[in-house]
Amino acid sequence: MDYRIIRRKIESKATSKISESVSLHNIFSTKFLVFLQTIVYEAISSQIFLLLAAMTIGSQHKDRLFTEHRLPSDFVFDEQVASVFEDMINRSVPGYSTIIFMIGLLAERYYQDESNIYDLGCSLGGASCSILEHLKESSCKIIAIDNSQAMIERLEHKKAQFGERGNQIEGRHENVQDTEISNASVVILNFTLQFIPPADRKALIEKIYAGMNPGGILIISEKIIFTDEHLNKLLIDSYHQFKEGMGYSKLEISQKRTALENVLIPETLDEQKKRMRSSGFGTFEVWFQCFNFASMVGIK
Ligand SMILES: C[S@@+](CC[C@H](N)C(=O)[O-])C[C@H]1O[C@@H](n2cnc3c(N)ncnc32)[C@H](O)[C@@H]1O
Repeated sequence: MDYRIIRRKIESKATSKISESVSLHNIFSTKFLVFLQTIVYEAISSQIFLLLAAMTIGSQHKDRLFTEHRLPSDFVFDEQVASVFEDMINRSVPGYSTIIFMIGLLAERYYQDESNIYDLGCSLGGASCSILEHLKESSCKIIAIDNSQAMIERLEHKKAQFGERGNQIEGRHENVQDTEISNASVVILNFTLQFIPPADRKALIEKIYAGMNPGGILIISEKIIFTDEHLNKLLIDSYHQFKEGMGYSKLEISQKRTALENVLIPETLDEQKKRMRSSGFGTFEVWFQCFNFASMVGIK
């Protein structure tokens, strides 16, 4: 929201109201006009107050976790991260909202009646909520898994925005490596696989494939790397410029990068494709890419 535009609108409304009141000077007494102007100014100041309140609430959820100098430590999806996660992911992952929207559309296309939908590493359930919005008429069951207790607790609050339908999302505090997958027509790994130890990734994809119904879809989004060093640097630099454009300082960018170094292990698209093919997925392709972020689909 651009607060300057809103403020200008409020001010111009006030000015036009005041000039109207001046032209009515002949009809009403000065006392009455002063009373009217007081009401107008009261209205303006209460709107400004609401505006300031909205700005304060907004800023409580803004990701400022890496603004101050800190000792290097590994990134964890704890309460602190969960409380700013929505702002963090929207300002850190180029195309995140497009990917979330498209997950809803793809689910609408591939969901099979009476089957299960899995959102693995769901965080606050962005993908699950998009699916629920797109599958309005369906009684689909979405199993949303995360091994961060803080994320799952917040997901429970988020579900409430759907009323009764929110119960179609079943949040589970669990390691996706332990999750049993069965009767699945839609499986989502939206920026989760990159946090699984590389040696365990193939087993996870094979388990997902085995639990999927023929014709089902797996959507995987990941941060990626490139074997061409020049291209790799170009895309990482471009990504950092994107983050600066989203309001992160150079210090925030570099401290977060260090914190993620041992936790988020990216792979090349070739590695992803190879693993998908050897796990059984005959059809697999990238449908979205921006800098070093990509989203892929595999059909069983
Ligand atoms: C980048 S976030 C995923 C964003 C989310 N899918 C979305 O679309 O908004 C990664 C999430 O995966 C979760 N995660 C990482 N490893 C996991 C594991 N082994 N089991 C379950 N969840 C895991 C983290 O707790 C975190 O919430």
